[in-house]
Amino acid sequence: MKHFLQFKDFTREEFEYLFERTRHIKAMFKAYAIYHPLGDRMLAMVFEKQSTRTRVSFEAGIHQLGGSSINLTTTDTQLGRGEPIEDVARVISRMVDLVMIRTFDQSIIERFAAYSRVPVINGLTNQYHPCQILADVFTYIERRGSITGKTVAWIGDGNNMCSTWLQAAHIFDFQLNVSSPEGYALNTELITADELAHLTTFEDPMKAAQNADLVTTDVWTSMGFEAETNERKVDFVDFQVDEEMMAVARSNALFMHCLPAHRGEEVSAEVLEGPQSVVWDEAENRLHAQKALMEYLILGRVAKP
Ligand code: CP
Ligand code: NVA
Repeated sequence: MKHFLQFKDFTREEFEYLFERTRHIKAMFKAYAIYHPLGDRMLAMVFEKQSTRTRVSFEAGIHQLGGSSINLTTTDTQLGRGEPIEDVARVISRMVDLVMIRTFDQSIIERFAAYSRVPVINGLTNQYHPCQILADVFTYIERRGSITGKTVAWIGDGNNMCSTWLQAAHIFDFQLNVSSPEGYALNTELITADELAHLTTFEDPMKAAQNADLVTTDVWTSMGFEAETNERKVDFVDFQVDEEMMAVARSNALFMHCLPAHRGEEVSAEVLEGPQSVVWDEAENRLHAQKALMEYLILGRVAKP
């Protein structure tokens, strides 16, 4: 049994298989073809933080594959009254086929997985957001071909998205340029030497973006850090992806953002809505890539229908 708790839980070869399935599943969706390999299968979604894209893409995705879902939040379950995660894992995983969790510390999802009888998917933790990077790497390849040997510039918080991009850089062999304000650098404690070889850090965000094939950023304040919002608005003021920054990247560079975006903070409205932005494709590809992921975790490799 496999889980998807961090991006590096899968090999490059597994991602290549998943991308091939994503292309196929997306084409079937566009052709209104009915494909129900997960008939009668049940996905439990546990949200300890808010969500729009993750909720809709998983719920629509499992339905489109013939299965159904249950949506659970902290406040409407016994989790909110302190039931241990190990107990919740043993109960839920006896009743469903797959679990997706969005929570705070990575250790929570790891403890859940350790006691689960079914595969567990990380729908975002404080440390990682592997489903988003799955869709983002797929989107890059769909638009521009192989990402190997390319340069991705991360501008802003050294957060869950940034650390997941670094795991992807190692797996797909591309370079990650990171520029973060002082005090918000990527936590290098959990990073292996092999991953570090793919990371270059810059004080000046313009230098990080120079000649990049992809420029990407995220909110200044992630979920769970709301108490720091005002302080972060000051600390991040020089870390906006705007047209001037996109101009120093390669002329065919793409702009990505996992969304939700704050126009005028981490990205200018012009860049977000501009011709290099692929943010709506990224969001849509969450649906297709996660359908491939759910199919793989439940059924393993399938023959191309
Ligand atoms: N990008 C992303 O995960 O969005 P949600 O928080 O809306 O799920
Ligand atoms: N880094 C953001 C991503 C939201 C999808 C957060 O954790 O809130």
